[in-house]
Amino acid sequence: MVDRRTDDGTEKNGDTSRRTFLKATGAATASAGVGTGAVSAASEDRAEETDVEAMLADLTLEQKVGQMTQVDVGTFDPESAEIPDSFGVETLGEYFSELELGSIISGGASPPTFDPEETVTGINALQEYNLDNADHSIPFLWGVDALHGNTLLAGSTSFPQRINMGATRNIEAIEDAARQTADSAAAMGAHWTFAPTTDLQRDPRWGRFYEGITEDPAYLGEVSKARVRGLESNDRLCSTVKHFGAYSIPENGNDRAHARTSMRDLRTSLLPPYRTALEADPATVMVNSGAVNGKPAHASEWLLTQMLRERYGFDGVVVSDYDDFYRMLSNHDYTDSFRRTVKEGLNAGVDMYMIGNGGEAPGPAEFIETTVSLVEDGEVSTECIDESVRRILELKDELGLFEEPTVDESEIDAVLGGGQAESEQLARESMVLLKNDDALPLSGGEDVLLAGPGYDPDLDLENRFLMRHGGWTLGWQGIEEGAPSEGGPRPRGETITEALEGSLDGTLTHVPTDFRAQPYNPETSDANGDFGFTDEQEADVREAAGSADAVVVVLGEGPHNEGFGDRNELALDPAQRELVAAVEDEAPDTPVVGVVLAGSPRGGTETFDSLDAVVFAGQPGSDGGHAIAETLLGGNNPSGKLAFNWPESVGKVPNNYDAYPPLDDQEPLYAFGHGLSYTDFEYSGLSVSPGSVSDPANTPTVTASVGVENTGDEAGEHVVEVYNTQSYGSVLQPDRRLLGYERVALDAGESTTVDLDLDLSALEVVPGDVPGILPKVVEPGEYELTAGKETTTLSVENAGSITDDRPAVGFDLDDGNAPAGLVEFLRGLGR
Ligand code: BGC
Repeated sequence: MVDRRTDDGTEKNGDTSRRTFLKATGAATASAGVGTGAVSAASEDRAEETDVEAMLADLTLEQKVGQMTQVDVGTFDPESAEIPDSFGVETLGEYFSELELGSIISGGASPPTFDPEETVTGINALQEYNLDNADHSIPFLWGVDALHGNTLLAGSTSFPQRINMGATRNIEAIEDAARQTADSAAAMGAHWTFAPTTDLQRDPRWGRFYEGITEDPAYLGEVSKARVRGLESNDRLCSTVKHFGAYSIPENGNDRAHARTSMRDLRTSLLPPYRTALEADPATVMVNSGAVNGKPAHASEWLLTQMLRERYGFDGVVVSDYDDFYRMLSNHDYTDSFRRTVKEGLNAGVDMYMIGNGGEAPGPAEFIETTVSLVEDGEVSTECIDESVRRILELKDELGLFEEPTVDESEIDAVLGGGQAESEQLARESMVLLKNDDALPLSGGEDVLLAGPGYDPDLDLENRFLMRHGGWTLGWQGIEEGAPSEGGPRPRGETITEALEGSLDGTLTHVPTDFRAQPYNPETSDANGDFGFTDEQEADVREAAGSADAVVVVLGEGPHNEGFGDRNELALDPAQRELVAAVEDEAPDTPVVGVVLAGSPRGGTETFDSLDAVVFAGQPGSDGGHAIAETLLGGNNPSGKLAFNWPESVGKVPNNYDAYPPLDDQEPLYAFGHGLSYTDFEYSGLSVSPGSVSDPANTPTVTASVGVENTGDEAGEHVVEVYNTQSYGSVLQPDRRLLGYERVALDAGESTTVDLDLDLSALEVVPGDVPGILPKVVEPGEYELTAGKETTTLSVENAGSITDDRPAVGFDLDDGNAPAGLVEFLRGLGR
């Protein structure tokens, strides 16, 4: 399978015959016109109050399961017959008239068109068709992947990818970006975005590493919570905490492979970020596509019901991932029976099944038929179905869909490319200066050679912007699936070349080298690109390098997504290394600066030793070109900090900053928290108050204070971080744990005292022996705290639980889930 999404027509349906809207309540008849921004027409006849129970009672079993079904479509045209043969209907319109589907997805950041106006009128028209033709006129939910901005439309703001967000330590700015995303997605007509991704960023071999914020569980939880708040700040949009849980640690680094972990790891690191995000009350959760400790997550009642609903109290809609009941057969080889996976998935706690757009996977009709038969045979209860449908209808009600099924078509224009200030700020603050041997900043007066991947000879197109935006940007694998057309749809923004040209007083020579994006073909390159350095390009580079005052080489990897992005190595592609070698050879005394555009820690000493400075720019999006130019020229004093360990090589993976000792031979190339500046910051006098905590359950937060002085010559921003660096307990303690962070801005010579809230829940461990089932506690002891070279000690006198004062789910004698034999066994053991 290559491109799972199609990009197709936008015809709308003009049929205005309507059936009863909210017939179940007998309350109203909608008569909205199509494409008129016709919210008000529909609302004239709206139900005074939605009676979800009455609606539920009026649905047949088939129609209920229809509401539990979501399908990926590539068109707005109800007459379109581009429906996979196996799907049981002949046109898109029949999804509604025959199957009464509850939800539509234009997945992969690929709506049927990238044109804003056509999209909003298309969604409205299809909704009208649904209301006119479905028996119950229940509005559908339109779901999208607006993951770093509403990057489904030309002209949208592509905010820096999640890997960049993590480097900023700026939760407020991240929330602001999510707010803009919500307004834009809602104005487009979407009701649902499948964000925030809340999977711990642990393994850079994994193709979705760039979607992670950080490898630190507490920081990830806080950022995800803020993103839920931001995304749900618009009443017409709901968010999705995904992919519950432990998706991000496939043991072989391959997307959707099995995760081998432990109860202790799950409870200490992997699940807490979701728990924290759930505190913001997201409307939906998406399930992990993989398997955990031998159990597919979609079939895990422990994860989806006992943990998610009973322990964490989640009461919203649980949606499967893409075709994932089927994936239990096709990917996990768990069984050869679709019927069995549907049964297990629904009984485990999935409310809605997300169905892709074809291939081998069963379509909506088969899912509905299978589920109906399971209910008729007593293998899935009617109550289970009713509960799911109730949640789905309530969600539609909360989003106001019964009152206003369509949106005002004039609003998208005003909001689409907005949030520029927030996007610029995030891009700037995410620039991580990995290395600088006095090469940066440039003065601006130099003659500069800019080289590096950025030209597709087959398309005859400059295409470096693909590396800047990454996946989920106007296409699943990146803009136009990595094969952009001249003048084709793009997010708003400026390229690095344009930004440098606009800011240099000297001259800029640009020699882009070959880059054919190959997102679907990881076989040809581990870097999602076919990179080249032709003789002609080498000659041009040598000639320009010889006379340049400074050389900037852009390095990195192509856009990618999911399994197509999985990588077996972190070293840069050979053609890029040849480029660096040619520059070094031609101009040994000229400063050479590397700018890495990548969604993972690409590059190691084999390349960086030849560079005088390296900026990790990640995938900084619309305003990344500008932020990079500003950083190179000193207009932005870099302040980003790595939110993950940068391993020396792929052979050192896993390489996490909070690993257990021993860590000999595991020194990362650049550690979590690394990030240089053009100025120097010195710390003094770290203290903590209170210095002694009797019970962490009653004192979950303490305050650290530290003096910070900008001792250099430049103004700058700086993220002060306090870590726990040494402690002992009944189990191994992580090497380092981040407890607090605060961004400060200081002029040259200025100093201040920074107070940081330290969240002691980051010190919780699961005590006890191997099974890891006891309540989580901060254990008594002396905790060394460190900021830079300053240290102090926090004493904890008694064990106390902050987030999880009960034994692991399934082992809690009081929660009703523990099997009788186990209860007896544990009682015998005195637990
Ligand atoms: C991804 C999800 C995404 C969904 C819809 C899946 O392949 O795993 O994260 O939301 O597709 O596009």
